[in-house]
Amino acid sequence: MTYEGAKKLLSENGQEHVLRFWDRLNDAEKASLLAQVEELDFSSIAKQKEILAANLAGTASAAGEQAPMEPAPVTVLSDSDRADIAKIGEHELKAGHVGVLLVAGGQGSRLGFDGPKGCYPVGPLTDESLFYFHARKLLALSKRYEVSVPWYIMTSRTNDADTRAFFEKNGYFGLNPKDVFFFTQGMWPALTPDGRIILDQPGHIFLGPDGHGGMLAALERSGALEDMQKRGLRTVFYFQVDNPMVDIADPAFIGFHVRSGADVSAKVCAKRDPQEGLGVIVERNRRTEIVEYTEFTDEQKNERLPDGELRYKYGSVAIHVFSVDFLVHETHAGLPIHIAHKKIPTVREDGTVEKPSTPNGYKFEKFIFDCLKDAKVCSCLAFDRTQEFSPVKNAEGKDSPASCRADLSRKWARWFADAGVTLDMDADGYPRNRIEIDPVFANTAEELAARLAAGVTIDRTADILLKA
Ligand code: UD1
Repeated sequence: MTYEGAKKLLSENGQEHVLRFWDRLNDAEKASLLAQVEELDFSSIAKQKEILAANLAGTASAAGEQAPMEPAPVTVLSDSDRADIAKIGEHELKAGHVGVLLVAGGQGSRLGFDGPKGCYPVGPLTDESLFYFHARKLLALSKRYEVSVPWYIMTSRTNDADTRAFFEKNGYFGLNPKDVFFFTQGMWPALTPDGRIILDQPGHIFLGPDGHGGMLAALERSGALEDMQKRGLRTVFYFQVDNPMVDIADPAFIGFHVRSGADVSAKVCAKRDPQEGLGVIVERNRRTEIVEYTEFTDEQKNERLPDGELRYKYGSVAIHVFSVDFLVHETHAGLPIHIAHKKIPTVREDGTVEKPSTPNGYKFEKFIFDCLKDAKVCSCLAFDRTQEFSPVKNAEGKDSPASCRADLSRKWARWFADAGVTLDMDADGYPRNRIEIDPVFANTAEELAARLAAGVTIDRTADILLKA
């Protein structure tokens, strides 16, 4: 794009200030700014400006305040149902119909970790990373079902190179690199309250990832969706990078999805407390929806039934199964855009950069779970959070690295207990010794029991590390 072309495009869209430092830029900076302008998606920016104006005028209604809603129906499986339904999922896995999709393009700013969040060390004994645990579970699955389980990993421009380098450095954790498909989501600018694009350097537009809802367009753009179709995949298990307890491609969940003929399914759990930061699963206009916790009012969060239970008891932990046909159908769905008031580095008129201490601009994101309401059938399955959910979100306290490592050890201690090996536990049900099990050594309680029955011995008085 030429300078004249950029100037015309920007002024047609009320954004000519983007070039205001042009005369101070060197040739490389000029070329890079022109490339950024060329990539701007002005139709999305126009929608963002409308949303921003409605938001500031107080005329935007929060998602939780639209048409009447009620809690969505949730299935709780008995142990025998679970075993039956898992057979359907196992059949799908063995037939090579299942792929896995991870969204890892976010910035992990709450954790304060400088790098892709998936590289964060969570192994209680080894400091192995979130990516390690996810990858080793996939490897365990492909060994168990003697099939390749392709893994699609969404990154963003800010962490793509570092993510790929981490996989290279770690030999893909034993996976076949041909079965690991990285793809990159889009980036959006941020806007000032009057709708102007924010520069964070004189020759640079501030850009942030467009939210995990950007996944749909990115799947198509990158060829990942086509790859899924070529491989004959029918269902895709979806999860977030921050939860090393996730039961990847859990056969019972896959079977549940297939048996209910769903377009998309969601795993849900009872919220820890009304304020827990989980999207809430609701039904509105006979369709299932997830309303993000930030858009649910305090009154809605605290509403109780006559028996004292929370009315909106179940939260989504962002574990889904999508039918590939539904993903294809949704590729061009116009997901709604969400707005957030944030601190964004900005260039002052003298060209110096200001890092604000209070929110000064607006970022925009699409959420993948907004496609639930397009599903003709969306099924929700309850699960036991102590088995499958302990995310790393905050540096300290709840949902932190420390709580996650303890929950991992506690889960593995229960596997030992199921296998008849009792460990020394504290009053809160946490083992006194630290435990870590490589998912390729044992990915389920049954697999651990089989290993122990086959003669693997452990020293109950020391930390327990079991590796394949
Ligand atoms: C998220 C969900 C919330 C759910 C909770 C469960 C959103 C908006 N909310 O909250 O409903 O109950 O997890 O733990 O997702 N990501 C991208 N690209 C982006 C933004 C995020 O790939 O542009 C990825 C992140 O890398 C991460 C996941 O999406 O894997 C979640 O993002 P995060 O911002 O951490 O969401 P939460 O507030 O934790």
